[in-house]
Amino acid sequence: MPEFKTVDGVDTHPDWSHVPEHARHVFLCTGPRCTQRGALQLWKTLRRHLLAHDRIETPGGVLLTRTHCQFPCNLGPILTVYPETCWYGLHSDADVQRLVEVHLVGGEVVEDLLIKERS
Ligand code: FES
Repeated sequence: MPEFKTVDGVDTHPDWSHVPEHARHVFLCTGPRCTQRGALQLWKTLRRHLLAHDRIETPGGVLLTRTHCQFPCNLGPILTVYPETCWYGLHSDADVQRLVEVHLVGGEVVEDLLIKERS
């Protein structure tokens, strides 16, 4: 069983000393506007589909990070994928499922989910 320790008043764990395996880093905005638009439900859907494909913190998989505001709030919920620097606007569980299957598993950008600037 891994050990938790407190060092200099800070909680530590052996797993917190390495970068997890991943090929892509995915940032889902859970800032205030994206949350109002359903980002927390999309987070659950994202994790469920990635786990079903064994793509969380695995070689060739995804490191998932929730963020605060990424700025294009009007187009959110916003999800960004690196190293491709893709900015997506996701609006349903179906969008998330397609993003996982086409981009995060299949390696192809989902062009129609990319955000387009709006004035
Ligand atoms: S709250 Fe998500 S982009 Fe601003």
